[in-house]
Amino acid sequence: MNNSHSILITGSKGYIGSYLSKTFREKGYPVHGIDMNVLQTETESPCDISDQNALNSIINRLKPGIIIHTAGLSSLEKCEKEEKTAYRINTEGTNNIINAMQNFVPQSKLIFLSTDYVFDGSRGMYKEEEIPNPVTVYGKTKLKAENSIMDNLKNHAICRTANVYGRGGNFFNYILSSLDSNTVIKVFQDAFFSPTCIDNLLEMITMIIEKDQTGLFHTAGSERINRYNFAKKIAKAFKKDENLITEAKRPADSLIAFDLSLSIEKTRQRLGIDFFDITRGLETIRGN
Ligand SMILES: NC(=O)c1ccc[n+]([C@@H]2O[C@H](COP(=O)([O-])OP(=O)(O)OC[C@H]3O[C@@H](n4cnc5c(N)ncnc54)[C@H](OP(=O)(O)O)[C@@H]3O)[C@@H](O)[C@H]2O)c1
Repeated sequence: MNNSHSILITGSKGYIGSYLSKTFREKGYPVHGIDMNVLQTETESPCDISDQNALNSIINRLKPGIIIHTAGLSSLEKCEKEEKTAYRINTEGTNNIINAMQNFVPQSKLIFLSTDYVFDGSRGMYKEEEIPNPVTVYGKTKLKAENSIMDNLKNHAICRTANVYGRGGNFFNYILSSLDSNTVIKVFQDAFFSPTCIDNLLEMITMIIEKDQTGLFHTAGSERINRYNFAKKIAKAFKKDENLITEAKRPADSLIAFDLSLSIEKTRQRLGIDFFDITRGLETIRGN
């Protein structure tokens, strides 16, 4: 492999970033990670993406062929409460990466992890070509980042994903740990989405790299489901007590939308791989 295959992963200690680092190292790619609170090693460097100079120096030194950008503030609640910080990290941090790439590696590819929250969630089954309309601070900061990438970098892939499940995933861990401790939980039945198996997401990103694809992708699961039924399926797949899961309705001020499901048909055709439904995704996670 040559330098054009070297990968820099932002947010390499995070949930998706750590899976990406492991996956691409195992595939033989040279991988370097950056994150807020890591020690400097041969394969990782501490770096705050809101610090342009720090980013410039790392990108100029490593000259990666591919940057997979996962670093960000992804908690809906935190983004609402700390709006300035959310814009500084999610939007300006992405702008800093774009600037550094334009200066030091203008031919390299940027793969950006974006979100279903760029849509308002009133209808669902959103296609790539539909005009987004975020209503949360999180969604707004991510859409601004998407637009900057589209306007300024030719070689990019924007991957909108949704509730990525697997060991380490927030929703998945919450459901399993509640069931493990015999806690009765209330889960929204009026909130639909397209949960995405981590293994399947890794495969989609691999295809984007190996087929040298660019553009906007809905890298999400193939099944639209509500949170309550998804939680029930997790319980069933992991042989836990389903009765601990009870139905609830979203409160009027909920940040969780009614229907954020994504249409994946176009992306599935472009990548030419299977997109997992929930049964297959959970079977895969159980087998890991
Ligand atoms: N997980 C999902 O279901 C999902 C769904 C849709 C989209 N996404 C997107 O995918 C990306 C990764 O998600 P994730 O679940 O892996 O999130 P995560 O676990 O929170 O990982 C994000 C990582 O970025 C780091 N980070 C935060 N601010 C930074 C900064 N200023 N400079 C450098 N690193 C910084 C975090 O460090 P600290 O922990 O120290 O802050 C963390 O290690 C996010 O951009 C998110 O918007 C995720």
